[in-house]
Amino acid sequence: MCGIIGYIGNKKAGPILLDGLKKLEYRGYDSSGIAVIDGGVISVIKSVGMIEALDEKCSGGELLNGTVGIGHTRWATHGAPSDVNSHPHLSSDKRFAIVHNGIIENFESLRTELKSLGYKFVGETDSEVIAKLIQHLYNGNIISALRAVIDRLEGSYAVGIISADKPDTLYAIRKDNPLVVGLGNGENFIASDYTAALEHTKRFVLLDDKEIAEITATSTKFYDINGKLVKKTPYTIEWNIEEAQKGGYNHFMLKEIYEQPKALTRTLRPRISGDEIKLDKIEFDAEHLSSVERIDIIGCGSAYHAGIVGRSFIEKHCRIPVNNFLASEYIYSDPITGPKTLTIIISQSGETADTLAALKLAHSRGSKTLAVVNVVQSAIARAADDVLYTHAGPEIAVATTKGYTTQIVALYLIGLKMALKKGTITTKRYKELIRGLTKLPDKVEDMLLETEVEKIKEYAEKFYNHKCVFFMGRGTDYAASLEGALKLKEISYIHAEAYAAGELKHGTISLIEDDTLTLALVTQEKLYHKMESNIKAVKARGGTVIALASRANSKIKSCSDLLLTIPECDDDISPVLTAVQLQLFAYYVALKRGCEIDKPRNLAKSVTVE
Ligand code: AGP
Repeated sequence: MCGIIGYIGNKKAGPILLDGLKKLEYRGYDSSGIAVIDGGVISVIKSVGMIEALDEKCSGGELLNGTVGIGHTRWATHGAPSDVNSHPHLSSDKRFAIVHNGIIENFESLRTELKSLGYKFVGETDSEVIAKLIQHLYNGNIISALRAVIDRLEGSYAVGIISADKPDTLYAIRKDNPLVVGLGNGENFIASDYTAALEHTKRFVLLDDKEIAEITATSTKFYDINGKLVKKTPYTIEWNIEEAQKGGYNHFMLKEIYEQPKALTRTLRPRISGDEIKLDKIEFDAEHLSSVERIDIIGCGSAYHAGIVGRSFIEKHCRIPVNNFLASEYIYSDPITGPKTLTIIISQSGETADTLAALKLAHSRGSKTLAVVNVVQSAIARAADDVLYTHAGPEIAVATTKGYTTQIVALYLIGLKMALKKGTITTKRYKELIRGLTKLPDKVEDMLLETEVEKIKEYAEKFYNHKCVFFMGRGTDYAASLEGALKLKEISYIHAEAYAAGELKHGTISLIEDDTLTLALVTQEKLYHKMESNIKAVKARGGTVIALASRANSKIKSCSDLLLTIPECDDDISPVLTAVQLQLFAYYVALKRGCEIDKPRNLAKSVTVE
C-alpha cells in the first residue's frame, strides 16, 4: 500500500521526507520519490526500487533545498513500477506536484478529456490525472481548484499537493483513504499514517472525506467541499516512536510477537476492574441486547480469523447465533441484516477498504455496528456506531501478531459483557473467565521466556523445506489453526492449509503421505480423544505430527512425533496462547528460508483499495 509524507517548516524538507518514507517502508512499495519547492521551482527526484536508491539519488534529501515538500512510497496499482510512474507527479506546466494513495476510478475518462485539451501524459498511472486536472481547473485560487478537482474525482484518494505559486503552503485532500495532519512547533506535516511523523509530533488532526487542508509552517486551515472553513480538534497519539521502531529486534514481527504481553495488558487493563467489565463508552443496553437475534462478525484475513475465534466464544456464552463473514464476500452478498443484527467489524488498521464497505452496508440496513480497531481515528473507527480500541500500539510488520491476539481478547470482553447482561452465564463461570483473561499477559510472557522458543527454532530447522504444511483442530482450536496457516504461508511462502480435524476423513486424508507435516492443536479437554484419533489417522498414513497442546494434555505426546505446549489456561481462551506458538513457528521457518519477513512479497499492511 502506498505511503505519503509532507513537510512544511523551517528545516530542509528533503531529509525529513526521506526519513518519513523510511518509516513507511513497512507498508510495502516498489518505488518512491520526493518533490521540494526550491526558489519557486518544484524539484522532483524519484526512483523505482527500494528507498536506498532514492536516498542515493538525492544524497539523503540534502540535494534539494527548500522547506516545503512531499514524498511517496508507491505500491503499483495502475502502471508498472518505473521511475516515470513513481510519484510525485507534475502538472504539465510543472507548477504543481502531487502524491496520491488510492485509486481514481474514472481516470481513463479524465485522461481522455485532458488529452483532448492538449495535456500530455508521461506515465500510465491513474494518479497523474490529478496533477493535470489541478492545473486545468486552477484559475489563481488553489482552494477553488481543489474543490473542483474533488467534484471530478471518483474513487479513493489521499493526495498531498505543493504549488510553485504558493511556495509557503502545503495542501491535502482525501476521500476513503487515510491522511492525517501532524502539528509541530513552527512546522507541520501530512502523512498517510502516524508513524511517518511520530518522531516530530504526537499531535494530529484528521482530514475528513472531501475536505481540503491548507497548511503553512505555523497555521492549518480546513475547508469543506463548499469552501466553508471547518473547525478541527487536535488529538494526541499515545504511541511513542520507540514502539514504531525495531528496538533491537531483527524484525518488527518478532518485536511485535514479544510485545504481546504489554499489548494484551493495554487491551485488558482499562476494561476490567474487579469483576466488572467496562467497554469504554459501549453500554449494551439490555433492551437493545434482548432485541438482537444474531451477530455478524466481519473482517479480512487475520481479522476474519479473530472473528471466527470470537464466534465460538460469543455463541457459547451469549447463546446468540453468530455468523462470520469475509468482508469482500459480505458486500456483494445482499446480506440479510437490520436492527435485530449486531454487526461487529474487526480491523487492525481500520482502513481496509472491503471491511469499511461492509460496515457502511450493514449500517445502511439498520444494523448497529461495533468496530474492534487498533488505529485511533481510522476510517472504520469513525464510521462505526461504537468502537473498542485494542490499544496494541503501532503494528509495523505486515503479518499481524499483537493486532490479532488483542482482537481476540477484545471479542472475549464483548462476549462476557453481553453474556452477563443477558444472564446467559453463571457468575461463577463469568468470574473464572475474567480471572483467566487477566492472567493471559503473564502466561504469554512465560511462553516467550521459556525453552519452548528454542524447541520452535529446532522444529523450524527441521521442517523449513516442506512444500506444504497442514494445521488441524476442533472447536476453538480449529478457529485458531486458520490463523496459524495464514501466518506460515504469508511470510514463508510455504503452502499451508487449516482444516477442521473432523473433516480429515472427508478429503484431506488423501493428501497425507510420508513426512507430510501436520500441526495438531489439542487444547480442548472435551475433544481430546477425538483429536487423539485424528492424530493417529494422520500418522498411520506416514504423516509427521507436531501436537500443540495445553500442559494438561501433554500426554498427547505419546501418539505424536513432537510436542509444543502452552501454559495451563481456560480452554475457552486458549487461542491467544496457541497463536503465539504458531506465530513463532512461522517466524523461524521464514527466517530459515531467508524470506523478507516484515514485508512479504506482494503483501501490504493495509489493503485500502478493493
Ligand atoms: C494478516 O497477517 C495480514 N496482514 C492480513 O490478512 C490482514 O489481517 C488483513 O489484510 C486485514 O487487515 P486489517 O486488520 O488492518 O483490516
